[in-house]
Amino acid sequence: MTTATKLSFVHRYEPAAQTRRPPLLLLHGTGGDENDLISLGKLIAPGSALLSPRGKVLEGGMPRFFRRLAEGVFDEDDVRRRADELADFVAEARDAYGIAAPVAVGFSNGANIAAAALLLRPEAFAGAALLRAMTPLAQSPAADLSGKLILILSGAMDQMIPAANAEHLTGLFRKAGADVQHRTLPTGHGLSQADVSLTKEWLARF
Ligand code: MLT
Repeated sequence: MTTATKLSFVHRYEPAAQTRRPPLLLLHGTGGDENDLISLGKLIAPGSALLSPRGKVLEGGMPRFFRRLAEGVFDEDDVRRRADELADFVAEARDAYGIAAPVAVGFSNGANIAAAALLLRPEAFAGAALLRAMTPLAQSPAADLSGKLILILSGAMDQMIPAANAEHLTGLFRKAGADVQHRTLPTGHGLSQADVSLTKEWLARF
């Protein structure tokens, strides 16, 4: 498996070993890259195709998916533009690799761009698992997410994301018609074993 540069994002692509499983779109956190979540993808969805782009925004040399003004304070024009750009990349990659709409699995900054793309371009993903997500836009568009499966996993000791913020995001998705499961785990911002097992279990719904 090598990093590919032909499409509009630098990315890694791992073809499916089991074609009936949905592909995953893996979206790393700040300072990660296209390699970061590949092993998580293999653990939670053995046999699924994996598509893993590298965020194009650099913050002190660290890749991200959109610009922020401070920790948890987002440049919302950039969020909108970058969410569009990511949804366009997904469409491009679906054509190039002949895959179905992916389930997005995002961590931290990757979860936040996935949340924004769900609200702005709901057709891009079959569903999404958002690990340590927060509300990406103060003024959220009125999206139609009818029947879309969304998993949100928060950390009770997460210093970056207030519980009310993740609750607000859950409410936005529910109001848009999505089928949302929100769990708060006894952990911080980092991922835990429970994230792996709960996400794997939830993916069996597809
Ligand atoms: C973000 O910028 O998306 C959040 O602050 C999470 C992160 O630090 O990546």
